[in-house]
Amino acid sequence: MSKSREQQKYEETLARFRNHGQERVFRFWDDLDAAQRQRLLDQAAAVDLAALKRAHEANSGNTGARPPKLEPVPVVRLPAHGGDAAAFDRAFETGSQALADGRVAVLVVAGGQATRLGFDQPKGGYPVGPVTERTLFEQQAQKIRGLRRRYGRPLPWYVMTSDATDAATRALFEQNDCFGLPAEDVIFFRQGMVQSLDFEGHLMLEHPDRIFENPNGHGGSLTALLSSGSLDDMERRGIDTVFYYQVDNPLIQIADPAYLGFHLEAEAEMSCKVVRKRDAMEKVGVVARADGKVGVIEYTEIDDEHRFATDDDGELVFWAGSVAIHVFSTAFIRRVAESADELLPYHASAKRIPTIDDDGQPALPAEPNGHKLERFVFDALAAARSVCVVEADRKLEYSPIKNAEGADSPTSARRDLIAVYRSWLEAAGIELPKDGTAIEIDHSRVDSPEDARQLGIRRCDEAGDAIRVQAGESA
Ligand code: UTP
Repeated sequence: MSKSREQQKYEETLARFRNHGQERVFRFWDDLDAAQRQRLLDQAAAVDLAALKRAHEANSGNTGARPPKLEPVPVVRLPAHGGDAAAFDRAFETGSQALADGRVAVLVVAGGQATRLGFDQPKGGYPVGPVTERTLFEQQAQKIRGLRRRYGRPLPWYVMTSDATDAATRALFEQNDCFGLPAEDVIFFRQGMVQSLDFEGHLMLEHPDRIFENPNGHGGSLTALLSSGSLDDMERRGIDTVFYYQVDNPLIQIADPAYLGFHLEAEAEMSCKVVRKRDAMEKVGVVARADGKVGVIEYTEIDDEHRFATDDDGELVFWAGSVAIHVFSTAFIRRVAESADELLPYHASAKRIPTIDDDGQPALPAEPNGHKLERFVFDALAAARSVCVVEADRKLEYSPIKNAEGADSPTSARRDLIAVYRSWLEAAGIELPKDGTAIEIDHSRVDSPEDARQLGIRRCDEAGDAIRVQAGESA
Protein backbone atom coordinates (compact mmCIF):
# COMPACT_ATOMS: atom_id res chain seq x y z
CA MET A 1 0.00 0.00 0.00
CA SER A 2 1.43 3.43 -0.93
CA LYS A 3 1.95 5.85 1.89
CA SER A 4 -0.92 8.07 0.90
CA ARG A 5 -3.36 5.17 0.56
CA GLU A 6 -2.31 3.88 3.96
CA GLN A 7 -2.76 7.35 5.41
CA GLN A 8 -6.18 7.67 3.82
CA LYS A 9 -7.29 4.27 5.11
CA TYR A 10 -5.99 5.16 8.55
CA GLU A 11 -7.88 8.45 8.60
CA GLU A 12 -11.13 6.81 7.53
CA THR A 13 -10.77 4.08 10.12
CA LEU A 14 -9.81 6.52 12.83
CA ALA A 15 -12.87 8.63 12.05
CA ARG A 16 -15.12 5.55 12.24
CA PHE A 17 -13.63 4.57 15.60
CA ARG A 18 -13.78 8.17 16.88
CA ASN A 19 -17.51 8.24 16.11
CA HIS A 20 -17.90 5.41 18.59
CA GLY A 21 -15.46 6.81 21.17
CA GLN A 22 -12.97 4.02 20.36
CA GLU A 23 -10.05 6.01 18.95
CA ARG A 24 -7.68 5.00 21.77
CA VAL A 25 -7.13 1.78 19.85
CA PHE A 26 -4.76 3.82 17.68
CA ARG A 27 -2.82 5.48 20.48
CA PHE A 28 0.45 3.75 19.58
CA TRP A 29 0.07 4.44 15.84
CA ASP A 30 3.12 6.69 15.63
CA ASP A 31 5.32 3.96 17.15
CA LEU A 32 4.19 1.19 14.78
CA ASP A 33 6.11 0.09 11.70
CA ALA A 34 4.37 -0.40 8.34
CA ALA A 35 3.57 -4.09 8.88
CA GLN A 36 2.14 -3.45 12.34
CA ARG A 37 -0.01 -0.59 11.05
CA GLN A 38 -1.35 -2.81 8.30
CA ARG A 39 -2.16 -5.55 10.82
CA LEU A 40 -4.03 -3.16 13.07
CA LEU A 41 -5.97 -1.64 10.16
CA ASP A 42 -6.93 -5.09 8.89
CA GLN A 43 -8.13 -6.12 12.33
CA ALA A 44 -9.99 -2.83 12.81
CA ALA A 45 -11.80 -3.26 9.48
CA ALA A 46 -13.51 -6.38 10.81
CA VAL A 47 -14.70 -4.80 14.08
CA ASP A 48 -18.48 -4.31 14.21
CA LEU A 49 -18.56 -1.20 16.40
CA ALA A 50 -22.35 -0.89 16.38
CA ALA A 51 -22.78 -4.51 17.54
CA LEU A 52 -20.26 -3.94 20.34
CA LYS A 53 -22.11 -0.83 21.44
CA ARG A 54 -25.36 -2.79 21.58
CA ALA A 55 -23.66 -5.57 23.53
CA HIS A 56 -22.21 -3.11 26.02
CA GLU A 57 -25.52 -1.36 26.56
CA ALA A 58 -27.42 -4.62 26.93
CA ASN A 59 -24.96 -5.92 29.50
CA SER A 60 -24.23 -2.85 31.60
CA GLY A 61 -26.20 -1.88 34.66
CA ASN A 62 -29.79 -2.55 35.41
CA THR A 63 -31.89 -2.73 32.28
CA GLY A 64 -35.01 -2.24 34.42
CA ALA A 65 -36.58 -5.33 32.87
CA ARG A 66 -38.71 -7.38 35.24
CA PRO A 67 -37.50 -10.97 35.75
CA PRO A 68 -39.26 -13.37 33.34
CA LYS A 69 -42.13 -15.57 34.50
CA LEU A 70 -40.75 -19.10 34.62
CA GLU A 71 -42.62 -22.33 34.08
CA PRO A 72 -41.27 -25.87 33.85
CA VAL A 73 -41.17 -27.49 30.39
CA PRO A 74 -42.53 -30.94 29.55
CA VAL A 75 -39.68 -33.45 29.54
CA VAL A 76 -39.51 -36.94 28.02
CA ARG A 77 -38.72 -38.82 31.22
CA LEU A 78 -36.44 -41.85 31.47
CA PRO A 79 -38.27 -45.14 32.01
CA ALA A 80 -36.55 -45.36 35.40
CA HIS A 81 -38.25 -42.07 36.34
CA GLY A 82 -41.74 -42.94 35.15
CA GLY A 83 -41.16 -42.52 31.40
CA ASP A 84 -42.55 -44.82 28.73
CA ALA A 85 -40.05 -47.58 27.89
CA ALA A 86 -41.94 -48.46 24.68
CA ALA A 87 -41.64 -44.83 23.53
CA PHE A 88 -37.86 -45.05 24.04
CA ASP A 89 -37.77 -48.24 21.95
CA ARG A 90 -39.76 -46.55 19.17
CA ALA A 91 -37.57 -43.46 19.29
CA PHE A 92 -34.49 -45.69 19.13
CA GLU A 93 -35.81 -47.23 15.92
CA THR A 94 -36.63 -43.83 14.42
CA GLY A 95 -33.17 -42.46 15.26
CA SER A 96 -31.45 -45.62 13.99
CA GLN A 97 -33.31 -45.29 10.70
CA ALA A 98 -32.16 -41.66 10.34
CA LEU A 99 -28.57 -42.78 10.94
CA ALA A 100 -28.95 -45.61 8.43
CA ASP A 101 -30.39 -43.13 5.93
CA GLY A 102 -27.30 -40.92 6.28
CA ARG A 103 -29.35 -37.92 7.43
CA VAL A 104 -27.24 -37.19 10.52
CA ALA A 105 -24.01 -35.25 11.12
CA VAL A 106 -22.07 -34.85 14.34
CA LEU A 107 -20.87 -31.43 15.49
CA VAL A 108 -18.37 -30.92 18.29
CA VAL A 109 -17.57 -27.47 19.63
CA ALA A 110 -13.90 -27.37 20.50
CA GLY A 111 -12.92 -23.73 20.26
CA GLY A 112 -12.85 -22.92 23.98
CA GLN A 113 -9.71 -21.91 25.82
CA ALA A 114 -9.87 -24.33 28.78
CA THR A 115 -8.83 -21.59 31.18
CA ARG A 116 -10.29 -23.27 34.26
CA LEU A 117 -8.57 -26.54 33.41
CA GLY A 118 -5.35 -24.67 32.75
CA PHE A 119 -4.45 -26.84 29.74
CA ASP A 120 -2.49 -25.03 27.06
CA GLN A 121 -3.43 -27.45 24.26
CA PRO A 122 -6.89 -27.83 22.75
CA LYS A 123 -9.08 -29.56 25.34
CA GLY A 124 -9.83 -32.34 22.84
CA GLY A 125 -6.16 -33.32 23.19
CA TYR A 126 -6.62 -33.98 26.90
CA PRO A 127 -5.47 -37.51 27.84
CA VAL A 128 -8.60 -38.98 29.36
CA GLY A 129 -8.23 -42.74 28.81
CA PRO A 130 -7.85 -44.33 32.27
CA VAL A 131 -5.34 -46.95 31.00
CA THR A 132 -3.82 -45.71 27.73
CA GLU A 133 -4.30 -41.96 28.24
CA ARG A 134 -6.06 -41.73 24.90
CA THR A 135 -7.31 -38.26 24.21
CA LEU A 136 -10.88 -37.00 24.19
CA PHE A 137 -10.69 -36.64 20.41
CA GLU A 138 -9.45 -40.21 19.98
CA GLN A 139 -12.18 -41.56 22.23
CA GLN A 140 -14.83 -39.62 20.28
CA ALA A 141 -13.39 -40.79 16.97
CA GLN A 142 -13.70 -44.37 18.22
CA LYS A 143 -17.37 -43.83 18.95
CA ILE A 144 -17.92 -42.42 15.47
CA ARG A 145 -16.04 -45.32 13.89
CA GLY A 146 -18.32 -47.72 15.74
CA LEU A 147 -21.43 -45.88 14.52
CA ARG A 148 -20.15 -45.79 10.94
CA ARG A 149 -19.72 -49.52 11.02
CA ARG A 150 -23.07 -50.17 12.65
CA TYR A 151 -25.09 -47.96 10.27
CA GLY A 152 -22.95 -48.27 7.14
CA ARG A 153 -22.89 -44.48 6.66
CA PRO A 154 -20.12 -41.85 6.83
CA LEU A 155 -21.59 -39.86 9.79
CA PRO A 156 -19.50 -36.77 9.00
CA TRP A 157 -17.86 -35.10 12.00
CA TYR A 158 -17.76 -31.30 11.97
CA VAL A 159 -15.12 -30.04 14.38
CA MET A 160 -15.38 -26.40 15.36
CA THR A 161 -12.11 -24.76 16.30
CA SER A 162 -11.19 -21.16 17.07
CA ASP A 163 -8.09 -19.06 16.49
CA ALA A 164 -7.00 -20.35 19.91
CA THR A 165 -7.25 -24.04 18.95
CA ASP A 166 -7.31 -24.36 15.17
CA ALA A 167 -3.69 -25.08 14.24
CA ALA A 168 -3.06 -27.38 17.21
CA THR A 169 -6.31 -29.29 16.61
CA ARG A 170 -5.59 -29.88 12.93
CA ALA A 171 -2.04 -30.96 13.81
CA LEU A 172 -3.36 -33.45 16.35
CA PHE A 173 -5.68 -35.03 13.79
CA GLU A 174 -2.93 -35.10 11.17
CA GLN A 175 -0.39 -36.71 13.48
CA ASN A 176 -2.93 -39.40 14.32
CA ASP A 177 -4.19 -40.13 10.82
CA CYS A 178 -7.56 -38.64 11.70
CA PHE A 179 -7.86 -41.28 14.42
CA GLY A 180 -8.81 -43.89 11.86
CA LEU A 181 -11.53 -41.84 10.15
CA PRO A 182 -11.41 -40.90 6.45
CA ALA A 183 -10.16 -37.31 6.20
CA GLU A 184 -13.05 -36.32 3.92
CA ASP A 185 -15.51 -37.10 6.70
CA VAL A 186 -13.80 -34.91 9.30
CA ILE A 187 -14.52 -31.29 8.52
CA PHE A 188 -12.87 -28.49 10.48
CA PHE A 189 -14.37 -25.05 10.59
CA ARG A 190 -13.34 -22.07 12.64
CA GLN A 191 -15.60 -19.93 14.79
CA GLY A 192 -15.35 -16.16 14.80
CA MET A 193 -13.64 -13.94 17.32
CA VAL A 194 -15.13 -10.96 19.13
CA GLN A 195 -13.44 -8.08 20.91
CA SER A 196 -13.58 -7.74 24.69
CA LEU A 197 -14.58 -4.43 26.28
CA ASP A 198 -13.50 -2.70 29.46
CA PHE A 199 -16.25 -1.88 31.93
CA GLU A 200 -16.85 1.46 30.21
CA GLY A 201 -17.34 -0.25 26.86
CA HIS A 202 -13.92 0.55 25.36
CA LEU A 203 -11.90 -1.82 23.24
CA MET A 204 -8.72 -3.09 24.86
CA LEU A 205 -5.27 -3.52 23.33
CA GLU A 206 -3.39 -6.77 23.74
CA HIS A 207 -0.33 -5.37 21.94
CA PRO A 208 0.23 -1.89 20.54
CA ASP A 209 -0.86 -3.27 17.14
CA ARG A 210 -3.53 -5.72 18.30
CA ILE A 211 -7.01 -5.42 19.80
CA PHE A 212 -7.82 -8.10 22.36
CA GLU A 213 -10.31 -10.69 21.07
CA ASN A 214 -11.71 -13.96 22.32
CA PRO A 215 -13.60 -16.80 20.58
CA ASN A 216 -17.22 -15.69 20.22
CA GLY A 217 -18.78 -18.46 22.33
CA HIS A 218 -20.35 -21.81 21.47
CA GLY A 219 -23.25 -19.90 19.92
CA GLY A 220 -20.70 -18.88 17.30
CA SER A 221 -20.96 -22.45 15.99
CA LEU A 222 -24.26 -21.66 14.29
CA THR A 223 -22.98 -18.57 12.46
CA ALA A 224 -19.68 -20.25 11.60
CA LEU A 225 -21.44 -23.28 10.12
CA LEU A 226 -23.12 -20.88 7.72
CA SER A 227 -20.17 -18.60 6.96
CA SER A 228 -17.66 -21.44 6.53
CA GLY A 229 -19.84 -23.26 4.00
CA SER A 230 -20.13 -26.29 6.32
CA LEU A 231 -23.91 -26.00 6.38
CA ASP A 232 -23.96 -26.14 2.58
CA ASP A 233 -21.63 -29.11 2.78
CA MET A 234 -24.06 -30.89 5.13
CA GLU A 235 -26.98 -30.26 2.85
CA ARG A 236 -24.98 -31.45 -0.17
CA ARG A 237 -24.44 -34.70 1.72
CA GLY A 238 -28.18 -35.09 2.32
CA ILE A 239 -27.96 -34.24 6.02
CA ASP A 240 -30.88 -32.57 7.74
CA THR A 241 -30.19 -33.39 11.39
CA VAL A 242 -27.17 -32.34 13.48
CA PHE A 243 -26.11 -33.85 16.79
CA TYR A 244 -24.26 -31.17 18.81
CA TYR A 245 -22.01 -31.74 21.83
CA GLN A 246 -19.11 -30.20 23.74
CA VAL A 247 -15.63 -31.66 23.48
CA ASP A 248 -15.04 -32.03 27.21
CA ASN A 249 -17.53 -34.74 28.22
CA PRO A 250 -15.97 -38.22 28.00
CA LEU A 251 -19.35 -39.84 28.72
CA ILE A 252 -21.00 -38.33 25.64
CA GLN A 253 -23.28 -40.76 23.82
CA ILE A 254 -22.63 -39.48 20.33
CA ALA A 255 -25.65 -39.52 18.01
CA ASP A 256 -27.72 -41.34 20.62
CA PRO A 257 -30.44 -42.92 18.43
CA ALA A 258 -33.28 -42.59 20.95
CA TYR A 259 -32.55 -38.88 21.42
CA LEU A 260 -32.42 -38.33 17.66
CA GLY A 261 -35.65 -40.29 17.36
CA PHE A 262 -37.54 -38.19 19.93
CA HIS A 263 -36.32 -35.03 18.16
CA LEU A 264 -37.52 -36.29 14.78
CA GLU A 265 -40.84 -37.68 16.01
CA ALA A 266 -41.61 -34.34 17.69
CA GLU A 267 -40.64 -32.53 14.47
CA ALA A 268 -38.52 -30.34 16.71
CA GLU A 269 -36.19 -27.70 15.31
CA MET A 270 -33.89 -27.92 18.33
CA SER A 271 -33.72 -30.37 21.22
CA CYS A 272 -32.09 -30.44 24.66
CA LYS A 273 -30.88 -33.19 26.93
CA VAL A 274 -31.35 -32.53 30.61
CA VAL A 275 -30.30 -34.20 33.85
CA ARG A 276 -31.76 -33.84 37.31
CA LYS A 277 -29.94 -31.10 39.22
CA ARG A 278 -28.04 -32.49 42.19
CA ASP A 279 -29.57 -29.82 44.40
CA ALA A 280 -31.02 -26.36 44.09
CA MET A 281 -27.60 -24.71 44.31
CA GLU A 282 -25.84 -26.75 41.62
CA LYS A 283 -24.25 -24.36 39.14
CA VAL A 284 -26.04 -25.51 36.04
CA GLY A 285 -28.56 -23.74 33.82
CA VAL A 286 -32.11 -25.09 33.80
CA VAL A 287 -34.32 -25.60 30.79
CA ALA A 288 -37.59 -23.78 31.42
CA ARG A 289 -40.19 -21.63 29.73
CA ALA A 290 -39.44 -17.96 30.31
CA ASP A 291 -42.34 -15.68 29.42
CA GLY A 292 -43.69 -18.49 27.29
CA LYS A 293 -40.48 -19.27 25.36
CA VAL A 294 -38.25 -22.26 26.03
CA GLY A 295 -34.74 -21.33 27.05
CA VAL A 296 -31.88 -22.11 29.39
CA ILE A 297 -31.96 -19.98 32.53
CA GLU A 298 -28.43 -19.71 33.83
CA TYR A 299 -27.75 -20.43 37.47
CA THR A 300 -26.71 -16.81 37.96
CA GLU A 301 -30.02 -15.61 36.54
CA ILE A 302 -32.61 -17.72 38.36
CA ASP A 303 -34.06 -16.03 41.44
CA ASP A 304 -34.37 -17.84 44.77
CA GLU A 305 -38.13 -18.21 44.52
CA HIS A 306 -37.74 -20.38 41.39
CA ARG A 307 -34.40 -21.91 42.37
CA PHE A 308 -35.81 -23.46 45.55
CA ALA A 309 -39.40 -24.07 44.39
CA THR A 310 -40.56 -27.64 45.12
CA ASP A 311 -43.65 -29.63 44.15
CA ASP A 312 -45.99 -31.64 46.40
CA ASP A 313 -43.43 -34.46 46.54
CA GLY A 314 -40.71 -32.09 47.70
CA GLU A 315 -38.91 -32.35 44.32
CA LEU A 316 -37.42 -29.29 42.64
CA VAL A 317 -39.81 -27.79 40.11
CA PHE A 318 -36.88 -26.54 38.02
CA TRP A 319 -34.86 -29.74 38.14
CA ALA A 320 -34.01 -30.01 34.43
CA GLY A 321 -30.33 -29.05 34.20
CA SER A 322 -29.01 -28.48 30.68
CA VAL A 323 -25.98 -30.53 29.67
CA ALA A 324 -25.37 -28.79 26.35
CA ILE A 325 -26.22 -31.77 24.17
CA HIS A 326 -28.52 -30.67 21.37
CA VAL A 327 -30.05 -31.80 18.13
CA PHE A 328 -30.78 -29.27 15.39
CA SER A 329 -32.42 -29.34 12.03
CA THR A 330 -30.12 -27.85 9.40
CA ALA A 331 -32.92 -25.54 8.21
CA PHE A 332 -33.20 -24.12 11.72
CA ILE A 333 -29.44 -23.56 11.97
CA ARG A 334 -29.61 -21.58 8.74
CA ARG A 335 -32.51 -19.49 9.97
CA VAL A 336 -30.81 -18.66 13.28
CA ALA A 337 -27.44 -17.95 11.68
CA GLU A 338 -29.00 -15.60 9.16
CA SER A 339 -30.61 -13.59 11.97
CA ALA A 340 -27.85 -13.98 14.54
CA ASP A 341 -27.69 -10.27 15.41
CA GLU A 342 -31.24 -10.50 16.64
CA LEU A 343 -31.41 -14.10 17.93
CA LEU A 344 -27.98 -14.65 19.46
CA PRO A 345 -27.18 -11.66 21.68
CA TYR A 346 -23.73 -11.29 23.24
CA HIS A 347 -23.48 -12.09 26.94
CA ALA A 348 -20.76 -10.44 28.99
CA SER A 349 -18.69 -12.04 31.72
CA ALA A 350 -16.17 -10.14 33.81
CA LYS A 351 -12.65 -11.53 33.29
CA ARG A 352 -9.02 -10.65 33.83
CA ILE A 353 -8.02 -9.56 30.37
CA PRO A 354 -4.33 -9.31 29.51
CA THR A 355 -3.81 -5.84 28.16
CA ILE A 356 -1.06 -3.20 27.99
CA ASP A 357 -0.42 -0.07 29.97
CA ASP A 358 0.12 3.41 28.58
CA ASP A 359 3.78 2.59 27.92
CA GLY A 360 2.72 -0.40 25.83
CA GLN A 361 3.97 -2.82 28.50
CA PRO A 362 2.00 -6.05 29.22
CA ALA A 363 -0.31 -5.80 32.24
CA LEU A 364 -2.34 -8.71 33.64
CA PRO A 365 -4.62 -7.26 36.30
CA ALA A 366 -5.22 -9.05 39.61
CA GLU A 367 -8.96 -8.40 39.33
CA PRO A 368 -11.35 -8.54 36.38
CA ASN A 369 -10.85 -5.48 34.21
CA GLY A 370 -13.35 -6.05 31.44
CA HIS A 371 -16.00 -8.15 29.81
CA LYS A 372 -15.48 -11.04 27.46
CA LEU A 373 -18.44 -11.32 25.13
CA GLU A 374 -19.89 -14.64 24.02
CA ARG A 375 -22.87 -16.03 22.17
CA PHE A 376 -24.63 -18.99 23.78
CA VAL A 377 -25.95 -21.78 21.59
CA PHE A 378 -29.00 -22.28 23.78
CA ASP A 379 -30.27 -18.77 23.03
CA ALA A 380 -31.41 -20.28 19.74
CA LEU A 381 -34.09 -22.23 21.65
CA ALA A 382 -36.31 -19.15 21.85
CA ALA A 383 -36.47 -19.04 18.05
CA ALA A 384 -37.44 -22.69 17.61
CA ARG A 385 -41.04 -23.38 16.61
CA SER A 386 -40.83 -26.69 18.42
CA VAL A 387 -38.39 -27.92 21.08
CA CYS A 388 -38.05 -31.45 22.45
CA VAL A 389 -36.52 -31.96 25.91
CA VAL A 390 -35.29 -35.43 26.83
CA GLU A 391 -34.05 -36.64 30.19
CA ALA A 392 -30.65 -38.33 30.41
CA ASP A 393 -29.06 -40.38 33.16
CA ARG A 394 -26.20 -38.22 34.38
CA LYS A 395 -24.05 -41.08 35.61
CA LEU A 396 -24.13 -42.69 32.17
CA GLU A 397 -23.92 -39.57 30.01
CA TYR A 398 -22.42 -36.50 31.61
CA SER A 399 -19.22 -35.87 33.52
CA PRO A 400 -17.40 -32.91 31.95
CA ILE A 401 -13.81 -31.84 32.42
CA LYS A 402 -13.96 -28.19 33.39
CA ASN A 403 -11.65 -27.70 36.39
CA ALA A 404 -8.13 -28.88 37.21
CA GLU A 405 -9.32 -30.52 40.44
CA GLY A 406 -12.41 -31.28 42.49
CA ALA A 407 -15.82 -31.50 40.84
CA ASP A 408 -15.89 -31.72 37.02
CA SER A 409 -12.18 -32.43 36.81
CA PRO A 410 -10.10 -35.10 35.03
CA THR A 411 -10.19 -37.19 38.21
CA SER A 412 -13.99 -37.13 38.52
CA ALA A 413 -14.44 -37.71 34.78
CA ARG A 414 -12.13 -40.77 34.74
CA ARG A 415 -13.83 -42.13 37.84
CA ASP A 416 -17.26 -41.76 36.19
CA LEU A 417 -16.00 -43.23 32.91
CA ILE A 418 -14.70 -46.31 34.73
CA ALA A 419 -18.07 -46.60 36.52
CA VAL A 420 -19.82 -46.64 33.12
CA TYR A 421 -17.43 -49.36 31.90
CA ARG A 422 -18.09 -51.40 35.03
CA SER A 423 -21.84 -51.12 34.49
CA TRP A 424 -21.42 -52.45 30.93
CA LEU A 425 -19.26 -55.36 32.07
CA GLU A 426 -21.69 -56.19 34.83
CA ALA A 427 -24.68 -56.10 32.48
CA ALA A 428 -22.79 -58.41 30.10
CA GLY A 429 -21.95 -60.89 32.85
CA ILE A 430 -18.20 -60.22 32.54
CA GLU A 431 -16.24 -60.63 35.74
CA LEU A 432 -15.46 -57.25 37.27
CA PRO A 433 -11.88 -56.22 38.08
CA LYS A 434 -11.47 -55.28 41.70
CA ASP A 435 -12.72 -51.89 42.82
CA GLY A 436 -10.47 -48.98 41.99
CA THR A 437 -8.89 -50.70 38.96
CA ALA A 438 -8.51 -48.56 35.86
CA ILE A 439 -10.48 -49.94 32.89
CA GLU A 440 -10.62 -48.67 29.34
CA ILE A 441 -12.83 -49.80 26.51
CA ASP A 442 -12.27 -49.28 22.79
CA HIS A 443 -15.49 -47.54 21.81
CA SER A 444 -15.13 -48.45 18.17
CA ARG A 445 -15.78 -52.05 19.18
CA VAL A 446 -17.77 -51.86 22.42
CA ASP A 447 -20.00 -48.87 23.02
CA SER A 448 -22.89 -50.23 25.07
CA PRO A 449 -23.78 -53.09 27.43
CA GLU A 450 -25.22 -54.97 24.42
CA ASP A 451 -21.90 -54.72 22.55
CA ALA A 452 -20.14 -56.05 25.66
CA ARG A 453 -22.60 -58.95 25.82
CA GLN A 454 -21.99 -59.77 22.17
CA LEU A 455 -18.33 -60.35 22.88
CA GLY A 456 -19.52 -63.56 24.55
CA ILE A 457 -16.69 -63.55 27.08
CA ARG A 458 -16.53 -64.06 30.86
CA ARG A 459 -13.29 -62.23 31.68
CA CYS A 460 -11.80 -58.92 30.50
CA ASP A 461 -8.52 -60.53 29.44
CA GLU A 462 -10.43 -62.54 26.83
CA ALA A 463 -11.33 -59.29 25.02
CA GLY A 464 -7.84 -58.51 23.68
CA ASP A 465 -7.31 -54.77 23.49
CA ALA A 466 -11.06 -54.05 23.19
CA ILE A 467 -11.10 -53.97 26.98
CA ARG A 468 -7.96 -53.01 28.80
CA VAL A 469 -7.42 -53.28 32.50
CA GLN A 470 -4.61 -51.56 34.35
CA ALA A 471 -1.44 -53.71 34.25
CA GLY A 472 -1.29 -56.38 36.94
CA GLU A 473 -4.99 -56.04 37.69
CA SER A 474 -6.61 -58.07 34.95
CA ALA A 475 -9.53 -60.02 36.22
P1 UTP B 1 -16.79 -23.76 28.36
O1 UTP B 1 -17.65 -22.58 28.51
O2 UTP B 1 -16.84 -24.77 29.43
O3 UTP B 1 -15.32 -23.24 28.05
O4 UTP B 1 -17.12 -24.39 26.98
P2 UTP B 1 -13.90 -23.94 28.00
O5 UTP B 1 -13.12 -23.26 26.99
O6 UTP B 1 -13.98 -25.42 27.79
O7 UTP B 1 -13.32 -23.68 29.43
P3 UTP B 1 -13.10 -22.29 30.22
O8 UTP B 1 -14.46 -21.67 30.40
O9 UTP B 1 -12.14 -21.45 29.43
O10 UTP B 1 -12.51 -22.77 31.52
C1 UTP B 1 -17.99 -25.44 26.78
C2 UTP B 1 -17.73 -26.01 25.40
O11 UTP B 1 -17.91 -25.01 24.42
C3 UTP B 1 -16.75 -24.88 23.63
C4 UTP B 1 -15.62 -25.44 24.46
O12 UTP B 1 -14.57 -25.89 23.64
C5 UTP B 1 -16.32 -26.57 25.18
O13 UTP B 1 -16.46 -27.70 24.36
N1 UTP B 1 -16.56 -23.45 23.30
C6 UTP B 1 -16.67 -22.50 24.25
C7 UTP B 1 -16.25 -23.14 22.01
O14 UTP B 1 -16.14 -24.02 21.13
N2 UTP B 1 -16.07 -21.83 21.71
C8 UTP B 1 -16.18 -20.85 22.62
O15 UTP B 1 -16.01 -19.66 22.26
C9 UTP B 1 -16.49 -21.19 23.93
